[in-house]
Amino acid sequence: MVLRLMKPLLSGSKGLFFFFFVVLFWCSQSIKAQDAATDPSEVRALNSIFQQWDTQAVESWNHSGEPCSGVALSQNDSVFEDPSNNPVIRCDCSFNSNTLCHITRLRVVDLNRRGEVQQELLNLPFLNYLKIDQNFFSGPLAIIGNMFRLEFLSIAFNDFSGPIPKQLGNLKELRMLSLGNNNFSGTLPPELGNLTKLEDLYINRCGLGGDIPSTFANLVQLQTVWASGNAFSGKIPDFVGNNWTKLIELRIQGNSFEGPIPSSFANLTSLNTLKLDRIYNGSSSLGFLRNLKNLHDLDLSFNNLTCTIPSDMFTRDSVKRSFLGNNSLTGAIPNQPSTLHTIDLSYNLLSGDLPSWEDRIPRL
Ligand SMILES: *[C@@H]1O[C@H](CO)[C@@H](O)[C@H](O)[C@H]1NC(C)=O
Ligand SMILES: *[C@@H]1O[C@H](CO)[C@@H](O)[C@H](O)[C@H]1NC(C)=O
Ligand SMILES: *[C@@H]1O[C@H](CO)[C@@H](O)[C@H](O)[C@H]1NC(C)=O
Ligand SMILES: *[C@@H]1O[C@H](CO)[C@@H](O)[C@H](O)[C@H]1NC(C)=O
Ligand SMILES: *[C@@H]1O[C@H](CO)[C@@H](O)[C@H](O)[C@H]1NC(C)=O
Ligand SMILES: *[C@@H]1O[C@H](CO)[C@@H](O)[C@H](O)[C@H]1NC(C)=O
Ligand SMILES: *[C@@H]1O[C@H](CO)[C@@H](O)[C@H](O)[C@H]1NC(C)=O
Ligand SMILES: *[C@@H]1O[C@H](CO)[C@@H](O)[C@H](O)[C@H]1NC(C)=O
Ligand SMILES: *[C@@H]1O[C@H](CO)[C@@H](O)[C@H](O)[C@H]1NC(C)=O
Repeated sequence: MVLRLMKPLLSGSKGLFFFFFVVLFWCSQSIKAQDAATDPSEVRALNSIFQQWDTQAVESWNHSGEPCSGVALSQNDSVFEDPSNNPVIRCDCSFNSNTLCHITRLRVVDLNRRGEVQQELLNLPFLNYLKIDQNFFSGPLAIIGNMFRLEFLSIAFNDFSGPIPKQLGNLKELRMLSLGNNNFSGTLPPELGNLTKLEDLYINRCGLGGDIPSTFANLVQLQTVWASGNAFSGKIPDFVGNNWTKLIELRIQGNSFEGPIPSSFANLTSLNTLKLDRIYNGSSSLGFLRNLKNLHDLDLSFNNLTCTIPSDMFTRDSVKRSFLGNNSLTGAIPNQPSTLHTIDLSYNLLSGDLPSWEDRIPRL
């Protein structure tokens, strides 16, 4: 059927005309795409940044000096994140009727690069995504506070040091901020409480201490908070339970927080991971656990908890791992079967026999 249709179509003059029309249209489309050129000041800025970081584009983009080419034009996140496209940029070429490209993303990850965050980054004013993890970058960061379009900023696993600049609080569009595994010092600037769109905050093992500022009560969109391995101190704020109600993961172990665990934690009904160990004066009620129906992973070890375990803790299907060792938990272990995979209740004051279901659970 198809062949019979194709033959007269291609042999007749009407068919040929149609064929040429299609080819012409296709050519004009691809010429149009090639016509779109990167903003020259952004080309200069990018080349200068890459020169100072002693890096250059991979073959899959920057064809003959035009950075917005090849994979840089793809809007597909798996292409952008593909390890073979590193370093990589992403461009948006829809400006001036599809003739002008602006650079919107920059990623330079795990390439052993050194250097500072360059002033030239401000000449990429459309950048909304900057990820330079796992290098040896260092030096002042305040400049980043002027990159107002940033929604995603990740500088984890580098050599940044000194205080976190308060200017980061200017980045009102930020949804993701990752500063972990650096060598900062001092406390969290209250200005970060202005980042009210923030959903994911990673500040684990980065040298910080002091209280969680009260302005963080405004961060009501938070879903992920990793803040373990610092020297944060003071009471765990009530607002964590009252205002961070979208939390899915809270990892704040290995700090110097003081108990009790606020009863407001009962509001964190979406929480699936709670890691909170080694708090001082930990004496807390674990009643809040009753509301956390989505909890998979719980670590409250080394907290001097002196209460009883809620009787339904180990009967829920959701809980997969539970570390409650080195507390002063009292009472009997509830004698009901459970799907719990890993449990550690060592060094407590629990009484009674281990329930019969205990042998069926692999111990860690
Ligand atoms: C892009 O290619 C041009 C010409 O080959 C080169 O001079 C420039 O440094 C490259 N830019 C980047 C960011 O690699
Ligand atoms: C994105 O790219 C990946 C890998 O190249 C591909 O499998 C996937 O289908 C693409 N997704 C879209 C929405 O184009
Ligand atoms: C971190 O910075 C402190 C000074 O603030 C310094 O003493 C320490 O050696 C640094 N640690 C690393 C791993 O660079
Ligand atoms: C940001 O937060 C600080 C301290 O919390 C506050 O003084 C300042 O007015 C805020 N800035 C803006 C622009 O909202
Ligand atoms: C907690 O969040 C609410 C908005 O949901 C806000 O009105 C309130 O001021 C916040 N609490 C504090 C202490 O800022
Ligand atoms: C959170 O929990 C506390 C204590 O359980 C309760 O008083 C408060 O009303 C709850 N707040 C919200 C926003 O649900
Ligand atoms: C735990 O409790 C014991 C006795 O109540 C006390 O001596 C010890 O200092 C407490 N430890 C912590 C880390 O709070
Ligand atoms: C912690 O507990 C100890 C001993 O019970 C007490 O002396 C100390 O005042 C408590 N600290 C706080 C901040 O409540
Ligand atoms: C756990 O608590 C027990 C009893 O208090 C203590 O002997 C042991 O050293 C603690 N384990 C650790 C790793 O601190």
